[in-house]
Amino acid sequence: MTSAANNPASPPASAKLRLKKCRVGVLISGAGSNMRALVASSHQVNSPYEIACVASNKADAGGIVWAHENGITTKVINHKDFSTHEAFDAALNDYLQSQNLDLIACAGFMRIMTSQLITPWQGRMLNIHPSLLPLYKGLHTHARAIAAGDKESGCSVHWVTAALDDGPVIAQARVPILKGDTPDTLAVRVLVEEHKLYSAVLAQVSRDL
Ligand code: GRF
Repeated sequence: MTSAANNPASPPASAKLRLKKCRVGVLISGAGSNMRALVASSHQVNSPYEIACVASNKADAGGIVWAHENGITTKVINHKDFSTHEAFDAALNDYLQSQNLDLIACAGFMRIMTSQLITPWQGRMLNIHPSLLPLYKGLHTHARAIAAGDKESGCSVHWVTAALDDGPVIAQARVPILKGDTPDTLAVRVLVEEHKLYSAVLAQVSRDL
């Protein structure tokens, strides 16, 4: 028998051959522009991942409407139908488990997640956050960066862990904060970088899986 190590026809161990695309589930709550960027990137030749489903906690989220209209498997689970965070998270986890997913990409999913959702996906769940973590975890990141007089801001893709916006950072993109920037103008420029960064990181993580 010939081993891969001494067979010149075998790929090196570092060049893993993934025959099946990674199945990614995306969680959203709003417009879903990051989700749309991930979908567009998944349609590129040789993309190592596909968007298997998009789930939202809001039925009227622009992103879930768009995903449905574009033939993507969608699911709405309204958090208001549950009496506790844990019960909602358990229901969402049940749905995600049913979709045979490899990775979860949180993309503007505006819920604080409990262990019911995080633990089953630990090491397979990513998030994008509009700041240069560890700066400005939580909300209103652009206003806080401007108020602090920062010269630059940006976005971070990180692994999701139990603490909010606290998991290991995988990659960041930076943008300058310009004189006269408002939270809205800064958000627009950061969002452009979010779309590029998230697609690139998800592709790399999918290849490495
Ligand atoms: C993005 O800035 C994301 O980083 C933050 O919420 C925003 C969502 O935008 N968590 P979209 O729904 O992807 O357009």
